[in-house]
Amino acid sequence: VIAFFTPKLLAGRKVLITAGPTFEAIDPVRGITNLSSGRMGYAVARAARQAGAEVTLVSGPVGFCPPQGVDRINVKSALDMHAAVMAQAAGADVFIAVAAVADYRVANAAEHKLKKDTGGIPPIELVENPDILAEVAALKNGPFCVGFAAESRNLEEYAQTKRRKKKIPLIAGNLIQDGFGGEDNRLVLFDDAGSHPLAPAPKSVLARQLVEHIAHLTGKH
Ligand code: CTP
Ligand code: CA
Repeated sequence: VIAFFTPKLLAGRKVLITAGPTFEAIDPVRGITNLSSGRMGYAVARAARQAGAEVTLVSGPVGFCPPQGVDRINVKSALDMHAAVMAQAAGADVFIAVAAVADYRVANAAEHKLKKDTGGIPPIELVENPDILAEVAALKNGPFCVGFAAESRNLEEYAQTKRRKKKIPLIAGNLIQDGFGGEDNRLVLFDDAGSHPLAPAPKSVLARQLVEHIAHLTGKH
């Protein structure tokens, strides 16, 4: 009953989220990916939906279903993710990039399965993928952009440098040893006002706190 009268923090707002890893093909059966589980991004999608937002989740390959009420677009590679996001970004009020996007893709991906007996070790050439978050942040009248920085050390320095380089107002930093793959995480939010460390908690709780912080920074609450 109380929930009925509580104004929802992101009521009516369009929130676009990326989550999970990407998969960069080497040949039809092999590829380069990473250990992102997608849990943090899916928790953020669920929290934004519960806060009343219209949520579109652009998701790399993960092992679970989309949260209730969330529109999911499934993608595999960083280029697929880039295309899906750019098609949605202009209409979004908030963009939250949680995905662990591969920085590089295979330039010489093979159309057919590589065979071991056809002369030597195959060279894998890499080319840089587009920076989806930086591109959305550079849009005129684009959404309020939020990044994630998963680091193995120097969290504050690396996260703040990323925030400035990508020209985004808010970044959520975590150490990979605290969060990658698990149910819990430890986040520090970095914005113009400085750093806001959140207590270690389940990803669902942290996602709600992040949504509250975004609602606060984007006004109206
Ligand atoms: N990101 C993105 N597109 C990319 C790379 C990263 O949208 N091609 C987003 C991630 O979703 C995350 C943020 O940018 O929100 C930071 O990603 P991260 O990999 O930590 O930063 P990079 O700029 O790629 O720097 P590095 O990997 O060297 O730490
Ligand atoms: Ca990266």
